[in-house]
Amino acid sequence: MTTRHDPTPTQTAHRGRIIAVTVAAALGGLLFGFDTAVINGAVDAIKGEFGVSESVLGFTVAITLIGCAVGAWFTGGLADRFGRRPVMTLAAAVFVVQSAGSAFAFSAYDLMAWRLLGGLAIGAASVIAPAYISEIAPAKYRGALASLQQLAITVGIFLSLLNDAGLAALAGGASETLWLGMAAWRWMLLVGVVPALVYGILSWRIPESPQYLVRAGRDDEAAEVLRTVTGVEDPAHKISEIRRTADLESRRSLADLKGSVLGLHPLLWVGMGMAVLQQFVGINAIFYYSTTLWKSVGFSEEDSFTTSVITAIVNVAMTFVAIGLVDRVGRRRLLLWGSVGMFVGLVMASYSFAHATTVGGELSLPAPYGPIALVGANLFVVFFAATWGPILWVALGEIFPNRMRSRALGVSTSANWIANFVVTLLVPIVTARFGTSALYAGFAFFAALSFVFVIKFFPEFSGRELEDRPADA
Ligand code: GLC
Repeated sequence: MTTRHDPTPTQTAHRGRIIAVTVAAALGGLLFGFDTAVINGAVDAIKGEFGVSESVLGFTVAITLIGCAVGAWFTGGLADRFGRRPVMTLAAAVFVVQSAGSAFAFSAYDLMAWRLLGGLAIGAASVIAPAYISEIAPAKYRGALASLQQLAITVGIFLSLLNDAGLAALAGGASETLWLGMAAWRWMLLVGVVPALVYGILSWRIPESPQYLVRAGRDDEAAEVLRTVTGVEDPAHKISEIRRTADLESRRSLADLKGSVLGLHPLLWVGMGMAVLQQFVGINAIFYYSTTLWKSVGFSEEDSFTTSVITAIVNVAMTFVAIGLVDRVGRRRLLLWGSVGMFVGLVMASYSFAHATTVGGELSLPAPYGPIALVGANLFVVFFAATWGPILWVALGEIFPNRMRSRALGVSTSANWIANFVVTLLVPIVTARFGTSALYAGFAFFAALSFVFVIKFFPEFSGRELEDRPADA
């Protein structure tokens, strides 16, 4: 028996198509996750092979983030000029070249150059996926589809862990020779070529975004995409809506919009604020330093790999919660729950670390503080992964008016990468000067701030069409 809610065969076909193109675009997220994390299993071997200092090594790792910020910044303009798809293809080509280049690097400085280039591609992918997905998705489940980008990021991080550990185990160590006379760490980096090629091929096979097509005057193609992929019943009406909002673009820029604050559109401030807060709650620091945390509560070095895998799986699994809830519960509510949950987890960790002692130069947490810290840190990851992780990307794809979306997305995403870089630089400094408890307290402060920020500034776009806003907003 069919009920009124059962999808018709046409709706099912649309759903299949829209999921397929979204997955293709989200592959950029997989490369984002994989390429930012894959270096972790290789760093020690790189240090050994090139004989570089800790600081040169640290810079070789962190330089990618600078590349990401630059790549994100320029991607918006490129995507407006040449279309969303060609930017994906270009990013894929850069991903291929940089993975191969890094794998064959002959010095730390050579590797640095390749990693900087890789950053450009990661930055581009981090902007183009949310832009494309939000433009092609139907409003009803745009949140779930845009969350697939974060799902792909978390899967990428998880795969990089398996890749690094698997290849190191095969060779008997990351510095040992694996195949063709090449050390395992080089193979770890080379593997990135495979998803990059798949991404490049798929970027040729997916349709261009309807918003871009309308702005380029290619209305017939836009109508076709809207009808066959998005499942819009009246493409002509949708096209005129897109045109109405896009036409303003020629007359306005990011700077001269009504109600601008310090010369920028208020929503751009919201986007940048959200992007910075997503990093200042400390997610990447916690991922990166999870080994220290586990060790301080008594886990051995060997156990720490298992525990990192568990954290990565929790990160993937909890993203499904966002996918399931984001369109039903709304972005604002989820973000607010997330801020509260992250705050509680971080305060628990900070409180526990205030009772840490140093044994033989290493942190140690006596019971009951060890378990409290562990529960706190995991609670934080659970809440981040179900809320702020994915919803930032959903929000950046939809809060901006059509005429400025890709450029504003680029600028906000760039702010996200700069904030990531700042946290990466500051964590060791803050920890050395003020201790781990203070570090977590700092992150907790930003979690509290993120709550206030959402209450005061974050607009709800759940279920609304991208064109559904006042003409000059
Ligand atoms: C988000 C963050 C990214 C982080 C990831 C972890 O995508 O933007 O920096 O590494 O979540 O899952």
